[in-house]
Amino acid sequence: MIDDEYLMSARDVSVHYNGKAAIRNVSLDIGRNHVLALIGASGCGKSTFLRCLNRMNDTIPGAKVQGLITLDGQNIYAPGTDVAQLRARVGIVFQKPTPFPQTIYDNVAYGPRIHGLAAARADLDELVHMSLQRAGLWDEVKDRLSQSGTSLSGGQQQRLCIARTIAVNPEVILMDEPTSALDPIASAKVEDLIDELRANYAIVIVTHNMQQAARVSQSTAYFHMGDLIEFGSTNRIFTNPRQKLTEDYITGRIG
Ligand SMILES: Nc1ncnc2c1ncn2[C@@H]1O[C@H](COP(=O)(O)OP(=O)(O)O)[C@@H](O)[C@H]1O
Ligand SMILES: [Mg+2]
Repeated sequence: MIDDEYLMSARDVSVHYNGKAAIRNVSLDIGRNHVLALIGASGCGKSTFLRCLNRMNDTIPGAKVQGLITLDGQNIYAPGTDVAQLRARVGIVFQKPTPFPQTIYDNVAYGPRIHGLAAARADLDELVHMSLQRAGLWDEVKDRLSQSGTSLSGGQQQRLCIARTIAVNPEVILMDEPTSALDPIASAKVEDLIDELRANYAIVIVTHNMQQAARVSQSTAYFHMGDLIEFGSTNRIFTNPRQKLTEDYITGRIG
């Protein structure tokens, strides 16, 4: 059994889609108050691995996950696991901001309502406030909580999605290329936010932008064609990679 020095651990995780391997024998650890960046060329398996961490691959027909993944020392694939509860503890934010066609308030209140996290209206108001505050959006929306979430700019919508994830009190936040649909200013805001969120959550971010990985993460995992080639501190990976494939990727020779 894996000790719980780390918040999450993956051991020998492989995923097949309809019998074809997408990732093979991936093992790594995710620390508390830590940002892990997953990098590598398109199709190398970054999103596939990320989805293993909150069992999103369960929803993909033909996907088969093998290996062990633990959260707080517990196997998240154990029979009887409450997957809705798991996805609250390990939330996910996607590339394209996807607010519900509802008010800003209701977007954030949605999760707490279905999980029964706020008994009274005042508790829910407080949770919505705190979540928007932590997502760096409160000052911009506090006077328009009853407007539609879709009326916000792309960058604001992405921070709304982060607020929605925060509202159910996660331990880990997964982000799959969260800034690739945003302009540079909105992207920079989300990057700053990621650094602040680290105080309260562990974060795993998929990015095809190596500068972004270097800026926001403390550890980096480099994937190549389904294999985890190298995993270590971001500083070391970018200054002193041990593997030729990693060096070729970060110096722009492949990818
Ligand atoms: N839903 C799916 N069904 C079948 N194959 C998939 C599916 N999602 C991803 N794949 C395949 O798995 C491999 C890894 O894809 P993915 O995890 O999306 O890579 P990345 O996020 O690094 O671009 C690719 O060969 C891709 O075609
Ligand atoms: Mg992807």
